[in-house]
Amino acid sequence: MSDDGGQRTFGPLGTVLVIIPTYNEAENIKPIVERVRTAVPEADILVADDNSPDGTGKIADELAAEDKQVHVLHRKGKEGLGAAYLAGFRWGIEHDYGVLVEMDADGSHQPEELPRLLIALRNADLVLGSRWVPGGRVVNWPKHREFLSRGGSTYSRLLLDVPVRDVTGGFRAFRRETLEGLGMDAVASQGYCFQVDLAWRAIKAGFTVVEVPITFVERERGDSKMSRDIVAEALWRVTSWGVSSRVNKVLGREQSS
Ligand code: GDD
Ligand code: MN
Repeated sequence: MSDDGGQRTFGPLGTVLVIIPTYNEAENIKPIVERVRTAVPEADILVADDNSPDGTGKIADELAAEDKQVHVLHRKGKEGLGAAYLAGFRWGIEHDYGVLVEMDADGSHQPEELPRLLIALRNADLVLGSRWVPGGRVVNWPKHREFLSRGGSTYSRLLLDVPVRDVTGGFRAFRRETLEGLGMDAVASQGYCFQVDLAWRAIKAGFTVVEVPITFVERERGDSKMSRDIVAEALWRVTSWGVSSRVNKVLGREQSS
């Protein structure tokens, strides 16, 4: 968050690229692309597929062949959500997009809410779609997922001192300058802790980060890729970031990351 009291003026937003990472989303990819194209017709789409065994990448190619605003980035194999987004961001920056959006393929992030995120980005460097601010909510999520997500956000917020309610969420809009300024090249997070990593870096770098309430709707088709390994990675990384930043503060050192 910034302490500029909203006094800063922000430049115009450039062209929007919605990046959709996919791993085995064959049933979801067509409907989500159609919904994005309808809800935000001026935005382009990049599907970042990790060579899904169920043929998601081929379906995405067919969509791209029909629509020049749809692009596909084929990756070698499953390397995690974080790696897919980093590749997508680099592709978007190389292709001169001004706004890079993160969105899940499974319908949990509703494209119809994206215009609200983009309006908020006019006066921010990074907008986070948030389930845990007033007006935000989740639909059809099992209690254990809600517990994990709320717990993960609270743990990260306390340990890292990030003044954000939903720090693990994956529906976000970045100005390109934000991604260029937060040290993307040093990001090593592979799984969902990538989201915590980026939000924390943006805040440390002094960017204006704003939360906008969203309604997260649990997927109806396909399976979540959340796993024990992803939770373990998040726990050890967040804990080690928190501990090292506290040690550095006590020693009066600048952070290296
Ligand atoms: N390319 C690629 N590679 N895509 C992936 C990978 C991967 O290794 N793992 C997951 N994805 C894609 C999925 O295909 C989907 O489009 C999106 O990333 C989110 O994956 P889900 O498996 O549906 O996530 P979730 O619903 O359990 O988790 C949601 O909540 C998390 C915690 O708040 C997401 O919004 C996460 O981003 C969020 O961190
Ligand atoms: Mn999901």
